[in-house]
Amino acid sequence: MTEGAVYEVSESTASAAWIDESGYFSLYEQSVSNPEAFWGEQGKRIEWFKPYSEVKDVAYGPGDVHIRWYGDGTTNVAHNCIDRHLAEKRDTTAIIWEGDDPADSKHITYGELHEQVCRLGNALKARGVKKGDRVTIYMPMIPEAAYAMLACARIGAIHSVVFGGFSPDALAGRVQDCASTCVITADEGLRGGRKVPLKANTDKALESCSDVDTVVVVKRTGGDVGWKDGRDVWYHEACADVSADCPAEEMNAEDPLFILYTSGSTGKPKGVLHTTGGYLVYAAMTHHYVFDYHPGEVYWCTADVGWVTGHSYIVYGPLANGATTLMFEGVPNYPDASRFWQVCDKHKVDIFYTAPTAIRALMREGEDPVKSTSRSSLRLLGSVGEPINPEAWEWYHKVVGDERCPIVDTWWQTETGGILITPLPGATPLKPGSATRPFFGIKPVLVDADGAVLEGATEGNLCIADSWPGQMRTVYGDHERFIQTYFSSYPGKYFTGDGCRRDGDGYYWITGRVDDVINVSGHRMGTAEVESALVAHPKVAESAVVGYPHDIKGQGIYAYVTLIAGEAPSEELRKELVGWVRKEIGPIASPDLIQWAPGLPKTRSGKIMRRILRKIAEDDFSNLGDTSTLADPGVVNDLIDNRMNKA
Ligand code: PRX
Repeated sequence: MTEGAVYEVSESTASAAWIDESGYFSLYEQSVSNPEAFWGEQGKRIEWFKPYSEVKDVAYGPGDVHIRWYGDGTTNVAHNCIDRHLAEKRDTTAIIWEGDDPADSKHITYGELHEQVCRLGNALKARGVKKGDRVTIYMPMIPEAAYAMLACARIGAIHSVVFGGFSPDALAGRVQDCASTCVITADEGLRGGRKVPLKANTDKALESCSDVDTVVVVKRTGGDVGWKDGRDVWYHEACADVSADCPAEEMNAEDPLFILYTSGSTGKPKGVLHTTGGYLVYAAMTHHYVFDYHPGEVYWCTADVGWVTGHSYIVYGPLANGATTLMFEGVPNYPDASRFWQVCDKHKVDIFYTAPTAIRALMREGEDPVKSTSRSSLRLLGSVGEPINPEAWEWYHKVVGDERCPIVDTWWQTETGGILITPLPGATPLKPGSATRPFFGIKPVLVDADGAVLEGATEGNLCIADSWPGQMRTVYGDHERFIQTYFSSYPGKYFTGDGCRRDGDGYYWITGRVDDVINVSGHRMGTAEVESALVAHPKVAESAVVGYPHDIKGQGIYAYVTLIAGEAPSEELRKELVGWVRKEIGPIASPDLIQWAPGLPKTRSGKIMRRILRKIAEDDFSNLGDTSTLADPGVVNDLIDNRMNKA
């Protein structure tokens, strides 16, 4: 553990950056001492059709929770991400697309982006999609995914992007929850040389979604697809038939921009709702400062648009800033483990933003695949999605960045819309493994289990004391759940669900989730979702799912399964259950380990003692605590003896 290491900001980095260390401290101080004035000024980063006179209107409860920013202003997100740049950047590249096949890439200028988005906007309108309607986007990483998001924003429709790795069932649940009437998809996706049957999955999902009257299909691979006349339309045909002029709808700052489903500790995934003005101001501002983006630079975020990182830091933040953003269809190890760095060389990438799980997987391949490339264009590296272990940080810094590039370890969530805790490259000395300091306007607080605020160097539950413009506004269709999930544990504060330590320098170290959410390869997964998929199998009586430390994925999925009476465990059944969960949710939810559990440790009132199950899964049962109060203390020994993760 290199926890003591500190990497100072070099003078050249500090002087070239938008903000240096003293600049950070003074702007941070202004931002938290007078939020109204600060955010009033920052709101001007984007163009408004009608300027706002109100800045902030927020109540964090108890009782009433509402969050409004720039509430009387009007604007349009697509106008800000495209039209606003046309005068100067019509011929500048907005999107560099790098295909799964290294021979496949293209540049899309702001002028071309404008035409594509306008055409699709008109095509959607021609099919009856209007302001406020929900459109589900289930796409591979192709430029049309970004066009689809921006076309919705342009006409005022609310998009809900569903990750292309989700199963038909998971897609159906998300289409139903927000009552989408239109789905935009592709015939097939292409990842690592393998085809993903997106249209076939959509057809299957829509068997249970009667509200959907339009499916727009991009021809990506040309593979065979089923077709429902009247409902299905080819993207290229729909866009050919319409005008390339589509005025941007005037949207109130608080009109919804998108819904994005994310896992929580209980129940079905929640539809996190983000709105227009504040979200865009925050995405643009964080992209500008955290990545220290300067005009002309090539910026690459390797996330998928199915996750919030793809929304804020592939599409909205970069395009609002007139940046050149790279969109990659493939995977890090195809055709080989050099791919990321080859792409950096090919497109002269300046700023590279990825996830710790990718770094750890590439680290396993050794230095050669990295060192065979130049990477001389890189000047800044970023990390997101889970805590980065100091070993991976050091490797990223030394091997990928040749000790030249600062690393921004950015902590945030689907709910936060943008980055909240992060270094700024010109301002923040780095400590490997720490997300360092709060961004402007962000007031992190650590509280104990009773909600008492902890001061100084300490560890506790991470809350945010006040709102910022990028914050989610509600859970779509369920404001009560929004209040319950985020504002009830510690009244008056937004609770993140993360544990965190603050050191003597005021640096924040995220320690991971404190609820029943696990983080698998940077993907958020509710243990309850995996459990309900498992118990839906006819041979499963009961199941409990926990996370355990995994070398590459950060956390792996460990499932305890109790079979119904008369069913015998077998290797075959184990495989069947893994396949079952993949089918129910998607490959990212596949259990890594399944332990047959004749019984689960429960209190006398029947509550499963997850703490004990977590310990056993971690192969650490030195400190199980008092098990004598369990209904059947004997089950614990059996589980220990047969644990799947023995060192
Ligand atoms: O536990 C934190 C972890 O990911 C969670 C949010 O997941 P999601 O909404 O899917 O968004 C991921 C991308 C923003 C957080 O509650 N997390 C995210 N970034 C970091 C992190 N944990 C530690 N360090 C990070 N940089």
